[in-house]
Amino acid sequence: MGQSPIIAWEEVKLADFGTAPLMLRHSLASHPMFAREALARVIESAGRADYYVNTMDLGSHDPRSRREGEMAGLSGEQVLEAVAKGTIWILLLNPAKANPAYNELLDAIYDEMHRMVPGFRTRLHKMTLLISSPKVQVHYHCDIPGQTLWQIAGTKQVRVYPNRPPFLNQAALERIALGEVHEFGLPYDPAFESEAKVFELTPGHMLHWPLNAPHRIVNGDCVNVSFTTEHFTTSNRRNFIVNRANGVLRKRLGERPLSQDISGPAYWAKFGVAAAHKLLQPAAAKKKLRIDFALDPKAERAVRTIPAYEVTP
Ligand SMILES: [Fe+2]
Repeated sequence: MGQSPIIAWEEVKLADFGTAPLMLRHSLASHPMFAREALARVIESAGRADYYVNTMDLGSHDPRSRREGEMAGLSGEQVLEAVAKGTIWILLLNPAKANPAYNELLDAIYDEMHRMVPGFRTRLHKMTLLISSPKVQVHYHCDIPGQTLWQIAGTKQVRVYPNRPPFLNQAALERIALGEVHEFGLPYDPAFESEAKVFELTPGHMLHWPLNAPHRIVNGDCVNVSFTTEHFTTSNRRNFIVNRANGVLRKRLGERPLSQDISGPAYWAKFGVAAAHKLLQPAAAKKKLRIDFALDPKAERAVRTIPAYEVTP
């Protein structure tokens, strides 16, 4: 990538990095790595463990309308066609399998963030490509790692909520960290909207939000191509361990408040709990998926119902 900046950093906003949602411009919207042919290649190189395909109701906020699917046997071009006509959300988890240049870009992004944001040091970096249909939504949820969303094509509205109770329910976060419930298990109340920060992302915008900040997304009336970059900082990682340990302790201790300390004796006691329960592995590996549709460009909304089966991605 050379030394030309990926992000158009704005001094005035830099102070907010990590404490408030931060939207900046980036230079990747016309990068050939995100052109249609390149996306088709990533789709075609994805095995079952490398993607999620979802569909959901367009009108409701009901996370139970969300379904998991498969895209076996389709060309990249057919998948893109299906996304354009359907109500589909695709996550491609390992784009570097198709082209190692995605990992080089990921490294360049974090090198630049480390250079520009004082004290920001991260590891366990990950890039996920998102290709999604007009008007689809991602329901209210939170993510465990630190995250940035990069818009390449199309428009979407992202609503970001404060990362504290009642918006971020502590017991739900612990169960999500433990891998016992899906990210969408986070309780939502329409009253939360009064504190939502609303961002309209167009190609060339990136949005970074504070750790675990709940968010939800509604696409504009156009196909969207985006990607996320994810990381852990030392304190993210410790938060994750504390949340998992608290999730275990809560089963015995009930609803009482549990310490969120990520240093000192309280942290190391939690580290011990997490180690004893083999909780130091990422939670994502344990989730089971119930697959009940096949992506099909010829089917209505590109969704063809199939007999349900379970996979462990
Ligand atoms: Fe998310």
